[in-house]
Amino acid sequence: MSNNLVKIVNSPVSSASLWNGAHKIPWNDPTFSARILREHLSQDHQLASRKTEVITAQIKWIHENCLGSTSTNTPMNILDLGCGPGLYSRGLAADIHKYTGLDFGPASIKHAQQEYTIKGQCEFVLGDVVEADFGINHDLVMMIYGELNVFSPQNCRKILAKAYSALGPGGTLLIEAQSFDVIKGMAESANSWSSAEAGLFTEFPHICLTENNWLADESTSLQQFHVITDDDNEPVTYRSTTKAWTEDELEGLFGEAGFSGIHKHTDWPNANDGLMLFSATKE
Ligand SMILES: C[S@@+](CC[C@H](N)C(=O)[O-])C[C@H]1O[C@@H](n2cnc3c(N)ncnc32)[C@H](O)[C@@H]1O
Repeated sequence: MSNNLVKIVNSPVSSASLWNGAHKIPWNDPTFSARILREHLSQDHQLASRKTEVITAQIKWIHENCLGSTSTNTPMNILDLGCGPGLYSRGLAADIHKYTGLDFGPASIKHAQQEYTIKGQCEFVLGDVVEADFGINHDLVMMIYGELNVFSPQNCRKILAKAYSALGPGGTLLIEAQSFDVIKGMAESANSWSSAEAGLFTEFPHICLTENNWLADESTSLQQFHVITDDDNEPVTYRSTTKAWTEDELEGLFGEAGFSGIHKHTDWPNANDGLMLFSATKE
């Protein structure tokens, strides 16, 4: 096994296979999804979703900046791409607006449906944001917590074009992207080992080598997790691929999709953790 691991770790990273389908953490695998749900709901860290107090502050910010005053009682249609277990849903709907959450994690969507569904007001759909139909006439389409960066440039463009079509005139796009320097810094940091009785990748005792790579030509981080559960087992490798976009490139992407009025917001709660919030408008 250890010889194989040395070979795996020493094999060159091929840019040709960067976005080959096995490029991301298996959020949509049912057993992985059940394990990541625990992390979404944990108040001990902010790995998959923020803590409740930050989510509450962000919901307030979205109401104040994107949904108008709730006192006007104008119902809005909100589409949340990669909604996870629905932690923003009820707060955004606020008994006035219609919220639809879309995510491909089965355990997250099941949790959201059980905890937060209000028929006709808060609904959740299991589906892949690259392929799913986004519907029409939304007032707000959002994708937060840096998720846009984990899609290939081609799929980023596809998601943004679909978001544009799904918005009504005057509708708002809200994208929270990861900063270029933070992605690059993490990709250039040292590899590390960890061991645990159970974790995100397996329920069994294991050790995990986290290998970081920066592909400068593609401005992309490739993080590989080599997980070994037993001396007789081959290591199983999971990948997490993250495209670093400069602010100018992001604004270019939004413009290419048809958006105008692009604005970076520095007052987004929890803005200092390597993430940047942009809004843009469909005229
Ligand atoms: C970092 S989590 C953020 C969840 C939620 N927005 C929040 O802030 O609590 C990213 C979410 O995106 C979802 N996701 C990733 N790729 C997706 C895809 N291709 N289609 C739908 N959902 C996806 C994951 O399942 C996960 O729930």
